[in-house]
Amino acid sequence: MGLIIVFLLAVLVAISLYSYLRVFYECIRKVKITKSNVKLTGNSSNGTAIQIADASSDTADQVEVFDQAPGPLPWPVLGNLALLGQYAVPFEGFTDLAKKFGDVYTLTLGTTRCLIVNNLELIREVLNQNGKFFGGRPDFLRFHKLFGGDRNNSLALCDWSSLQQKRRNLARKHCSPRDASSFFHKMSDVGCFEMQEFMEHLEKNIVSGEELEIKPLIQQTCANMFSQYMCTTRFDYNDTEFCKIVEYFDEIFWEINQGYAVDFLPWLAPFYKNHMSRIVHWSSTIRTFILERIINERERNIDVDEPEKDFTDALLKSLVEDEDVSRDTIIFMLEDFVGGHSAIGNLVMLALAYIVRNPEIGIQIQQEIDRITEKKRSVNLQDIENMAYTVATIYEVLRYSSSPIVPHVATEDVAIAGYGVTKGTVVFINNYELNTSEKYWENPKEFNPARFIEKNGTIKKNIPHFLPFSIGKRTCIGQNLVRGFGFIMLANLLQKYDVSCKNLDTIKTYPACVAVPPNAFKLVLSPRQL
Ligand code: HEM
Repeated sequence: MGLIIVFLLAVLVAISLYSYLRVFYECIRKVKITKSNVKLTGNSSNGTAIQIADASSDTADQVEVFDQAPGPLPWPVLGNLALLGQYAVPFEGFTDLAKKFGDVYTLTLGTTRCLIVNNLELIREVLNQNGKFFGGRPDFLRFHKLFGGDRNNSLALCDWSSLQQKRRNLARKHCSPRDASSFFHKMSDVGCFEMQEFMEHLEKNIVSGEELEIKPLIQQTCANMFSQYMCTTRFDYNDTEFCKIVEYFDEIFWEINQGYAVDFLPWLAPFYKNHMSRIVHWSSTIRTFILERIINERERNIDVDEPEKDFTDALLKSLVEDEDVSRDTIIFMLEDFVGGHSAIGNLVMLALAYIVRNPEIGIQIQQEIDRITEKKRSVNLQDIENMAYTVATIYEVLRYSSSPIVPHVATEDVAIAGYGVTKGTVVFINNYELNTSEKYWENPKEFNPARFIEKNGTIKKNIPHFLPFSIGKRTCIGQNLVRGFGFIMLANLLQKYDVSCKNLDTIKTYPACVAVPPNAFKLVLSPRQL
């Protein structure tokens, strides 16, 4: 018995040692890249590349050899995870470590090589100039659990592929409505209609001066905006199945915005069994709802010769017209896009939190609303051009909250800023640094929407270092929906209500996080005298 234990221990030590040596080798190894894989930019020419000729090749292809970016040496098992564990917000750690290692550096999290990119020029080099080498996503267990066992079913968590290009093209027309297009007007009509429903429901539920749990209602309204816009169907606020899936979408949104040790230490999975089961339960319940309450009926009545009336029609038509598109593809796509509503509900909750903390911001928004509507009508999307302060408040919330929570992955060996990056490296685009650095913003710690407003009172456009929706081939597809529906909801809510709370300590927000917990803070909504 004793011998067996000693033997097993020896095997364990040997495996651990072998695994650590591999990690160590991955850290120090040089990266060889054929010339075509390097799109050199300003920085790259300063790198450590040594030009050699590949003698084995008939065509004498040029191969360059690169050192990897600097970074701390990893510890066995944890790698450099303990370094980030010291920070309340891991992205603060990213920024802090840049002071020691420079604007681009490497970390090993568990056994995974990571590259942290900390300035605008380098971010562009990764996402714009070299985007085709960074189209992958990390292979976290949680991501698979969320999408029927395969993260490639998801639009945001899949690796780049021709199917992904197709899905993005399919979604673009409906889910990225351009200003003044017919889709933009539809977004406005749908948003305004749902806000009327919201107001009616709210009036019935408000008790004067009492705190109200407002997040579920906000989420249900956003869900109906999305479902009406994309599927031409909406649900009653008393529909328990609908309320349940809205709650589950919110749980999933919170979940996606968290980082867990198991992401980088997959051997911890047995300890996360219950958590993973919950994720599977949320997502499979949602899928059943989307199928039974939306897709099945639409599929029965589809006429492919009629012009498509919404995103669901476009998806069903592609099922008939394109052999690469399967029924699963469209079910997962619809689930993904309808689920986008959760991001907007959370964003509005965050905006309300900042307004409660800074009441003068709410007053300025209300003055803007009253000036534009002359207190005679509700706010619609055509007003957005003239309501810079409201839009600026949404932007300031995004500046405060967005983070590199969905990283990229290098799909082959490549060079960035003159450093070699190995295939499989997880790349964090540190937009937390872009959003909080004094290099880019005056008083970055202050919540101040006015920073987004030009001297002439219009909204600042194209601020190069403000990238809440990222750039490049995997940029966010839902950003116009965020701006449009987020604006309609925030403006119409503040037109009718003053928002406050009984105890400011209950208003909890998390830095660099666009989500608030599912059981978020309560608010007091007091009807305004109009
Ligand atoms: C607060 C609101 C939102 C923020 C801050 C946000 C931000 C982002 C960011 C940073 C990415 C990653 C881009 C990259 O990898 O470089 C992303 C991807 C994505 N977003 Fe959003 N997003 C929001 C809301 C939405 C909504 C409402 C939808 C859909 C209706 C949506 C759909 C997507 C999709 C499909 C992707 C994946 C694109 C791809 O990987 O090819 N997002 N978003």
